[in-house]
Amino acid sequence: MKDQLIIFDTTMRDGEQSPGASMTCEEKLQIAHQLERMKVDVIEAGFPAASKGDFESVRSVAQNISNSTICGLARANEKDIRLAADAVKPAKSARVHTFIATSPIHMAQKLRMEPDEVIEQAVRSVKLAKSLCGDVEFSPEDAGRSETEFLCRILEEVISAGANTINIPDTVGYTVPEQFAKLIVQLRERIPNSDKVVWSVHCHNDLGFAVANSLASVMAGVRQIECTINGLGERAGNASLEEIVMAVRTRQDYFPCDTNIDSSQIVPASKMVSAITGFPVQPNKAIVGANAFAHESGIHQDGVIKHRETYEIMRAQDVGWTTNQLVLGKHSGRTAFKQRLSHLGIKISSEDALNSAFGRFKDLADKKHEIFDEDLMMLATENVGNQPSERYQLISLLAHSETGETPLANLVLANEGEEVYAEANGSGPIDATFKAIEKIAQSGSSLELYSVNAITRGTDSQGEVGVRLAKEARVVNGTGADTDIVVASAKAYIDALNKLSSSEEKINPQINERLFKGE
Ligand code: KIV
Ligand code: ZN
Repeated sequence: MKDQLIIFDTTMRDGEQSPGASMTCEEKLQIAHQLERMKVDVIEAGFPAASKGDFESVRSVAQNISNSTICGLARANEKDIRLAADAVKPAKSARVHTFIATSPIHMAQKLRMEPDEVIEQAVRSVKLAKSLCGDVEFSPEDAGRSETEFLCRILEEVISAGANTINIPDTVGYTVPEQFAKLIVQLRERIPNSDKVVWSVHCHNDLGFAVANSLASVMAGVRQIECTINGLGERAGNASLEEIVMAVRTRQDYFPCDTNIDSSQIVPASKMVSAITGFPVQPNKAIVGANAFAHESGIHQDGVIKHRETYEIMRAQDVGWTTNQLVLGKHSGRTAFKQRLSHLGIKISSEDALNSAFGRFKDLADKKHEIFDEDLMMLATENVGNQPSERYQLISLLAHSETGETPLANLVLANEGEEVYAEANGSGPIDATFKAIEKIAQSGSSLELYSVNAITRGTDSQGEVGVRLAKEARVVNGTGADTDIVVASAKAYIDALNKLSSSEEKINPQINERLFKGE
């Protein structure tokens, strides 16, 4: 029997710290259900002290998910730990994850604490967390740049204080695989009570080593990896879940362990996270990129036709790629629609939401004869982010472009229920549409990113548009899909505006503040 490699997903916590990747409670629930279907062992659902909304989201995930452990992040202070323990309490299996920085630069410049004070604070925090929740994880933040001697001291003490998992973060993505693996070996050998805990790693991708560092540490005895769908996360992101899982599975001849993950759920998860956060997946991304299984050169195509394994080390269907099968059409009924969604693992929360998604399906089927799974996933995720309670709704849009003429957009938006008309010219129909929307919204935001992708094959495919808007310190991503890319662009822009007008303020768990010294 091989050891189990625990998969700890932090898409909804570290992933959410990517610019504009904030998720609503309903979106987090949708992702949590998908992670549960994928058999993720631990779901870090958020940072409950960040905001009231984050607390509620973690609590709601804890109430609704039964087959994965639900974890809440907390800085090493009493308030954060109590909030995290409270938020995860309803879970069948709950975990509190607390952390404090241990590198000389973080202790001196960020915490302004002496090393001994950091140890005291960590031990006090782990003891408190343990008294509130049986399962406690501790992370020495910026371990990759911490002194090994100091890590040995603090980790021995937090293990004695009751930590069950020790997670070694390479917070700034500074380490390289051999060195990181050596650090793990040294810690496990030198700390006398190291055998009492599960060893875990959490790697960032600043130098592109997040997955390599994580896998090297597996060879050094680590049995939990923290990772995210599509490698989402702060700056260059975290280790990507799909790459870790498939590397370990494909190279069973090499790795001494395997995961419990149902790999056929990987692509649906990737598409869901991309649609909800507005972060597109690059086409050549391993496992989940659109080209990951495409063979372009004649020699490769010929080889694959003769014998698939000449050029393929994994099967596309094993990671959840469907063969772009036609699944539903114009005459499909509500029951077939509902069954297909449920086959894709999409739960629609209410009859109203189902009716509204079915209405959009019928509209789409009128425009596009073949409806694929990718279209259905987009319809369902649109349903999550496009609630009638949102401030702006698109009522109608007419965009005109003609060779030699200045493009023009006329549109009607509902602004808090009141219909407002605007028109504008632009350098193209999309530019004109955004300008018309801004005449109404006057958001004062700047457009940071605009992207378009075809969801399926063919010119009747829906276009999926991503829009990133920034205003002062806030950054939000909006998405929209339609067979008409001008309409998809308007929907994406409005989605971003709705996110911008929601008032919720969050804090980042790693913000530069002095921790509650002496608490
Ligand atoms: O990167 C990091 O150090 C973290 C910790 C909170 C685990 O995200
Ligand atoms: Zn991190």
